[in-house]
Amino acid sequence: MPVQKMCTVAEAVRLNEFAYSLTLEVGEEMTSQTSCGQFVHIKCGEERLLRRPISICDWQGDLLRVVFEVRGEGTQWLSRRKAGDMLDVLGPLGHGFDLSAKRLLVVGGGIGVPPMLGVAKAAASAGAEVHAALGFRDQGHQMLTDAFVECCRSMSVISDDGSTGRKGFVTELVEEFLRNQPCAGADCAACSGKPEPPVVMACGPKGMLKAVAAACAAHGVACQVSLEERMGCGVGACLVCACDMADGSRKHVCKDGPVFNAGEVDWND
Ligand SMILES: Cc1cc2nc3c(=O)[nH]c(=O)nc-3n(C[C@H](O)[C@H](O)[C@H](O)COP(=O)(O)OP(=O)(O)OC[C@H]3O[C@@H](n4cnc5c(N)ncnc54)[C@H](O)[C@@H]3O)c2cc1C
Ligand code: FES
Repeated sequence: MPVQKMCTVAEAVRLNEFAYSLTLEVGEEMTSQTSCGQFVHIKCGEERLLRRPISICDWQGDLLRVVFEVRGEGTQWLSRRKAGDMLDVLGPLGHGFDLSAKRLLVVGGGIGVPPMLGVAKAAASAGAEVHAALGFRDQGHQMLTDAFVECCRSMSVISDDGSTGRKGFVTELVEEFLRNQPCAGADCAACSGKPEPPVVMACGPKGMLKAVAAACAAHGVACQVSLEERMGCGVGACLVCACDMADGSRKHVCKDGPVFNAGEVDWND
C-alpha cells in the first residue's frame, strides 16, 4: 500500500546546471515496499493542487532519493528545497522493472537516466551482470555517471553534440551492444557457449524508447520500458495518464506502469 506522509529533506544537492537530487527521509514503511522503476508523487507547494510524479532513483534504509530537472512551476519550487525542509510525499506508486534477468543492458536518455541507476545498483547487488548505455544532450546535462561505473560491468556515454562521450544518440549504443550479443533463439548453434542474451531496460523520451524497442525486437531481445505521461491522481482514479496498447486496450501509466514490456505498447500512439 502506498504511504502518504510528510518527509524531511535529508540532503539537497545540485548535480549540474539543470539537475537536482533530493534525499528524503521517507521511512522504512515506504522503502520496504519500493522496487526499481516505481515513482513517488510529490506535492509542490500548497498552491499547486496536483502532485508531480518523480521516479525513484535510489533508496536505502529509511532514505529515498529522487533526481529531477526543472520543467515548470512545480519542479522549480522543488529545486528550491533545502535540507531540513518538509515535503508531502505519496508512494511508492506504479509497477517497476522485472529484475529477474542475469544480464542486463540499462538504457537511460536525459532525465530517464536517474531511475536506471536504481535498476543497475539493485540488479548488480543481486549478482546480475549489468551494462549501461547513457545518452545526454551535452556535457552540461551529464549526471550520475560515476555511480554507474561503480556498479556496472561496462558503461558507455553518448551525447547529441559529442561534448561528452561520442556524438550521436543512445540508440546507436544499444544497436552496437545487441549486435555483439547471442541471439535469444534456443539451441542456436552459432551462439552456443556465449553468455545468455541480455534483457534491455530503458527510460527516456518516447522517441528513444520506440527506437530501443525496435532494435530489441529486431534482435529478438526482451525489452522493458518506463513510459512517461502527464498525470493527475497517480493512483488509477482519473484517466489522465491513459495510453494505448498494441492489443487495442488502454492502460494507466500510473497504475499498470510506468514500466511495460515493449511489445505491449502501441508505438504509433
Ligand atoms: C512516472 C513518471 C516519472 C517521472 N520521473 C521523473 C524524474 O525522475 N525526473 C524528472 O525530472 N522528471 C520526471 N518526470 C517528469 C515530471 O513529472 C515533470 O517534469 C513534472 O511533473 C513537471 O511539473 P512542473 O510543474 O515543473 O511543470 P508544468 O509543465 O508546469 O506542469 C504542469 C502539469 O503538467 C504535468 N506534467 C508536465 N510535464 C509532465 C511530464 N513530463 N510527465 C508527467 N506530468 C507532467 C505536471 O505534473 C503538472 O500537473 C516523470 C514523469 C512521470 C510520469
Ligand atoms: S494519473 Fe490518474 S489515472 Fe493515472
